[in-house]
Amino acid sequence: MEALVCREIGDPTLPLSNSSPLLLSRSHPLPELNSPTAVRVRICATSLNFANYLQILGKYQEKHPLPFIPGSDYSGVVDSVGERVSKFRVGDRVCSMASLGSFAEMIVSDEKDLYLVPDGCDLVEAGALPVAFGTSHVALVHRAQLKAGQVLLVLGAAGGVGISAVQIGKVCGAVVIAVVRGSEKQKLLQSMGVDHVVDSNKENLIENVKQYLKKQKLRGVDVLYDPVGGRLMKDSMKLLNWGAQILVIGFASGEVPVIPANIALVKNWTVHGLYWGSYRTHQPKILEDSLMELLSWLSKGLITIHISHSYSLSEANLAFGAIQDRKAIGKVMIVLQKKSGPKSKL
Ligand SMILES: NC(=O)c1ccc[n+]([C@@H]2O[C@H](COP(=O)([O-])OP(=O)(O)OC[C@H]3O[C@@H](n4cnc5c(N)ncnc54)[C@H](OP(=O)(O)O)[C@@H]3O)[C@@H](O)[C@H]2O)c1
Repeated sequence: MEALVCREIGDPTLPLSNSSPLLLSRSHPLPELNSPTAVRVRICATSLNFANYLQILGKYQEKHPLPFIPGSDYSGVVDSVGERVSKFRVGDRVCSMASLGSFAEMIVSDEKDLYLVPDGCDLVEAGALPVAFGTSHVALVHRAQLKAGQVLLVLGAAGGVGISAVQIGKVCGAVVIAVVRGSEKQKLLQSMGVDHVVDSNKENLIENVKQYLKKQKLRGVDVLYDPVGGRLMKDSMKLLNWGAQILVIGFASGEVPVIPANIALVKNWTVHGLYWGSYRTHQPKILEDSLMELLSWLSKGLITIHISHSYSLSEANLAFGAIQDRKAIGKVMIVLQKKSGPKSKL
């Protein structure tokens, strides 16, 4: 089968060649069913997350021995099942997330980690859902318990996790303020019904949001969703209410922010560190319930998946380029089983 192999740590945006960190293997061994409850899935689509980019650069919190096949969330069709598999049959449409291995034609998973994609849901879109929407759902619904009428501020709001956070915020009935860079991202979020969108390229975040809150007779921000860190996060703290919650999601800016404990004390803030992938080990039921709810929301049209770029496996370096250059709006996908229709590219 075809598989993208990371054979050394380096820049994943380099064109695939004998000297690049990523190599397209065209005769990689097929993964075998490794237990009676194992399921082999023929991958239709797999998503790029910022974490996959950091992994190949060698900057992610979890380090994997080389060589490895990168990739985490994916969708596809069941190709074969172990003798004790009870939930799935060959031909079922499924989605899931792995710690590694989805940048390939086939992957093997235990049946407990697979989710049936509801009829009517697009299979490529289902492959974009688990990590991005799963992270935002666990953060906002399970951890922050976001309520209708609360003010949610989302940084990096046009990125993979950001665009899912604004949508989940709206489903919860929150007043959602989104922070993005550039007018294209701003227009898309406005068209999605976000209450207020700030273009951080043009506007002063603090002044702009304060004016909006005053106009709406709102006191401040109740929940801050932060996948960016750095300066944006530092400024955002000036907008938080007494009793606010901070969701620490990631550091796309490359700068880990400092949250002063004395101010957290005085203002009664709660800081939630959230590592979604670790729920698989520590609280798998929460993750399972969360993904089931998200798939049901997707089938009802309560949330939508935005895919700005899709590529083939052999174009993976271009896909990583879209992430690196902050061009992604929503998700960047690698599509292995072609569907009809135009392909979007940079
Ligand atoms: N905690 C968890 O379990 C978890 C799960 C998933 C993701 N994450 C983390 O969340 C972060 C975002 O992930 P993602 O997959 O949503 O990435 P993404 O799609 O690339 O989005 C990142 C967003 O951050 C903004 N950004 C600001 N400064 C940036 C910089 N210097 N470089 C790149 N982007 C920058 C960009 O928006 P503008 O250009 O509009 O500013 C971009 O849209 C990453 O740090 C990732 O590791 C954490």
